[in-house]
Amino acid sequence: MKEKAEQIKSTLLKDIESVKKIQELMDLKSKYLGKSGMITELTKNMKDLSVEERKEVGMISNTLKNEVTEIIEQCEKKINEELLNEKLQNEVIDITLPSKKIKRGSLHPMTRITEEFEDLFVSMGYTVYSGPEIESDENCFQKLNLPKGHPARDAQDTFYLTDEVESFLLRSQTSTAQVRAMEENVDKGPIRIVCPGKVYRRDEDATHSHQFMQIEGLVIDKNVSMADLKGTLELFCKKILGEKTQVRFRPSYFPFTEPSVEVDVTCFKCGGKGCNLCKQTGWIEVLGAGMVHPDVLSMSGYDPNVYQGFAFGTGIDRFAMFKYGIPDIRTIYGNDIRFIEQFDRKDED
Ligand code: PHE
Repeated sequence: MKEKAEQIKSTLLKDIESVKKIQELMDLKSKYLGKSGMITELTKNMKDLSVEERKEVGMISNTLKNEVTEIIEQCEKKINEELLNEKLQNEVIDITLPSKKIKRGSLHPMTRITEEFEDLFVSMGYTVYSGPEIESDENCFQKLNLPKGHPARDAQDTFYLTDEVESFLLRSQTSTAQVRAMEENVDKGPIRIVCPGKVYRRDEDATHSHQFMQIEGLVIDKNVSMADLKGTLELFCKKILGEKTQVRFRPSYFPFTEPSVEVDVTCFKCGGKGCNLCKQTGWIEVLGAGMVHPDVLSMSGYDPNVYQGFAFGTGIDRFAMFKYGIPDIRTIYGNDIRFIEQFDRKDED
């Protein structure tokens, strides 16, 4: 019995020498330790043996089993180590290689200028408000004092999505934010918001696009006057276009403001002397504004005897064109990377 066990052990040691792969080792394992493996075979006839003999065979086969298991485990460890080393060798990374430079993008000029506007107004205590681009006729026109058939709608005759009475359209002005902000403000208290966003009109030439960006401002409070409007917009123009900029207010008409004004600034190309940009006038119109019409206040739940407000709206594209000297509005929306790259934030490099 002992010799047999020794023999099994030495054949295993011989067999194992040629084992290179885990699968081969597993085959060997079942050959020796499996259900019908060599060691199980050894104990097959135990029941025919005497108690003494059984004891001896049991002991020898157990020792053999432990030894064989140990040998196989050692071999498994060796194979796994070799596998790992091989993997480490193959997957080695040469960290001395110079890396590829990651190309850095730059902010779109519209994003830059919008952020500049927002920062300025936030510094004056405004919050940034955003409204949807698909609007109801009611919010875009009716509640801004432009009932159906009002002639002032012509200038903004735009992209309707439905034909019904309660129709929806792509908003033609961010003034819709005035209505929304007033209606959403349940306690009907003061409001101070700016709302930048896309608007849509049926226009298309070098200075007009069917889609452009506006920023709307609305302030509602007690004791708000035209002086507040003037002060705010003068500061706004100077901060965005330079301290030397002069600002002038001209009477104008918007259905939702009374009185209404248009705001001109001295031409930033010629400084007011007259050039092709300002059509020799020295002035460029940049904003529409006015005191919120009492009817507009009351249509959205504010008592015009208690609250007043002022509103203003301007085309962000126009400011960007002036500020960065962009001659054609269409390049802003053309998505040509060479155009956008010109506005890289060099100062942050
Ligand atoms: N919504 C107007 C326009 O698009 C601008 C404006 C806004 C005028 C707010 C007065 C007050 O022309």
